[in-house]
Amino acid sequence: MAKDGAQVDVADLDEALAQAELDRLAEEIARHDAAYHGDDAPVISDAEYDALKRRNLEIEARFPALKRADSPSEKVGAAPSERFLKVRHAVPMLSLGNVFDDEELADFVGGVRRFLSLDEDEVLAMTAEPKIDGLSLALRYENRELVQAATRGDGAEGEDVTRNALTIAEIPTRLPESAPALIEIRGEVYMTHSDFQALNTRQAEREAAGDKSAKVFANPRNAAAGSLRQLDPAITKSRPLKFFAYAWGEAPELPAETQAGVLEAFGAWGMPVNPLTQRCETVEALLAHYRAIEAQRASLGYDIDGVVYKVDRLDWQGRLGFRSRTPRWATAHKFPAEQATTVLEAIDIQVGRTGSLTPVARLRPVTVGGVVVSNATLHNEDYICGIGNDGQVIRADAEGAPIDIRPGDTVTVQRAGDVIPQIVAVDLAQRPVEAEAYVFPLKCPVCGSHAVREEGEAVRRCTGGLICDAQIVERLKHFVSRNAFDIEGLGAKQVEAFHADGWVSQPADIFYLRERYGGGLQQLKNREGWGEKSADNLFAAIDEKRAIPLERLIYALGIRHVGETSGRLLARRYGSWDAFEAAMKLARAPASKEDAKENAGAPEIEAWNELLNIDGVGAVMAAAVVEFFAEPRNLESLERLTDQLDIVDAEQPQTTDSPVAGKTVVFTGSLEQMSRAEAKARAEALGAKVSGSVSAKTDLVVAGPGAGSKLKKAEELGVEVKTEDEWLALIGG
Ligand code: IVH
Repeated sequence: MAKDGAQVDVADLDEALAQAELDRLAEEIARHDAAYHGDDAPVISDAEYDALKRRNLEIEARFPALKRADSPSEKVGAAPSERFLKVRHAVPMLSLGNVFDDEELADFVGGVRRFLSLDEDEVLAMTAEPKIDGLSLALRYENRELVQAATRGDGAEGEDVTRNALTIAEIPTRLPESAPALIEIRGEVYMTHSDFQALNTRQAEREAAGDKSAKVFANPRNAAAGSLRQLDPAITKSRPLKFFAYAWGEAPELPAETQAGVLEAFGAWGMPVNPLTQRCETVEALLAHYRAIEAQRASLGYDIDGVVYKVDRLDWQGRLGFRSRTPRWATAHKFPAEQATTVLEAIDIQVGRTGSLTPVARLRPVTVGGVVVSNATLHNEDYICGIGNDGQVIRADAEGAPIDIRPGDTVTVQRAGDVIPQIVAVDLAQRPVEAEAYVFPLKCPVCGSHAVREEGEAVRRCTGGLICDAQIVERLKHFVSRNAFDIEGLGAKQVEAFHADGWVSQPADIFYLRERYGGGLQQLKNREGWGEKSADNLFAAIDEKRAIPLERLIYALGIRHVGETSGRLLARRYGSWDAFEAAMKLARAPASKEDAKENAGAPEIEAWNELLNIDGVGAVMAAAVVEFFAEPRNLESLERLTDQLDIVDAEQPQTTDSPVAGKTVVFTGSLEQMSRAEAKARAEALGAKVSGSVSAKTDLVVAGPGAGSKLKKAEELGVEVKTEDEWLALIGG
């Protein structure tokens, strides 16, 4: 699997990796789709989202056989949310192809001419109009009454938002007599900049006053989507939504034979149509209008992200038809990213729900493409230093050396219709003399735990997973999940509610619930959704899980890279919690080859080697586990937790037919044919128990040169002693 920051080139993927990567991308894209369409709260920029989709397509192109049945490349938008009734679109709501420059537009127009076999002197008129950055809405009028309004959804099926659409003042509920008996008018719902700002101010005030339902929106488009997709139409009504009509779906009778003519009729019926729509007869005229719209972009008062060109004659539109998901008769000409210059005032660190430390630039507020920008993402520490994900220099000075970003710098900010603006350049000439290079924190700003950066990763992560406020909810959900503690009646939802009220802030708190909140069950019973019986059942279910198999406990801790299989491997290898914890606390990864050599035989390096020697445990996972146990805050949390548990030792796989099965063996002195760790691993693989000290229980001591007190003790106790060669002969070399 590709890791953050160290993505494998598509050309270098083998089939297994490609499969894993397609699975990962499907999951990730679905997650962002849900954030964007479901919650109207995107977490990555459009450009980053497009990059995920592009990578998915590239892998599918190289490995067509691996394409998933539910491939993200087949989806337009997102499936409709469960919260609304569904509407199947009589005519699918598709998206538009793109052109990015003048030449691509000329190619597009040339393609249309060829498709229609137009003579050179035949005029191909097209309309050019702003591409509104909102969400599309289909309005169905039967007998000139608005009977249904539906969002695009996945293009085939949308959500029924009729009651909400009826509250939008700009949308006529009735069409005049001149309109046909049946027509479905399509267009874009949007919010103006000033309305968006006023709404967000209100929302922020309500949020500050403790209203959890008040959400601050990232941009006008999300605000429009969030406002239209409300279960309560009264809320939609209170939001200042606007509408522009620009297309149609089912329409047996149209009022004109051209795109411009139909829009004009829509306007005459009282439908808002964009005043900047213009009919053009040449590519030059289209481009001139594009530039005219671009010049007005910042002063329009609402977001547009390009210009849409459509073939004007409807009979030609019909002949041109559609490619799989986009019309051949229309295309979108996107604007290049907007830029502005400002001063970076500070760099803050945000901690994500998975512990990633993300630097954020705090900017002197500046207007970029009509929107005030005061934050920009800085991605990770390399990015601040001027280094990209694959190690290349992304900002270079005259000599090609990377330019870092410092508080106090004058920077160029770019917003490409993006959710998160980016810093694309630093003006070194304006760097204040006192500006100091930014030092990335090595501690989590939320919980103070140490933050580590794995090899090959761009992201630094907090290791205090069990106690860090930024991560705890995710960790708790994982802790109670099906393959971890699996406590009946305590799922993600309940954990979230308990956490929100401060009842549970660490895994151990779950096991104190009865003691703290169950007295007479009163407090729990008083919670919404809990009665005496369910409360009682919950406490019983929690008690039932106090006896937990070691492997489940290890998995439940949510240590990075430790899944169920690794949990089992670790449990089998160490047998008991005490042995596991002691070994993990002791182990230290050597800092270098020299370190490993110099300290070979030192207990902490031995413990590290022992961990690595487990078949199925690699250096990345081993390091993650050791880092986890190196954080004192995690240890405190673990102590509270394990105090409450009765951890069931893992069963050791028995190899009964070896001569050392069940025997207790001690290695002492230096071994010459293999490392101590390997000798130990082999002995254990054969069913022996390897101990560090000699006692009456010891069956065999393997002594190499330099053996001292342990050999002496063995001799005193009459324990059998073998040389390394004799030992190898015994176990079969
Ligand atoms: S025409 C068959 N015109 O852009 C295509 N779409 O990327 C019909 N949009 O889903 C769409 N302004 O939500 C058209 N003037 C405009 C538009 C516009 C915004 C949106 C619309 C569509 C998306 C396609």
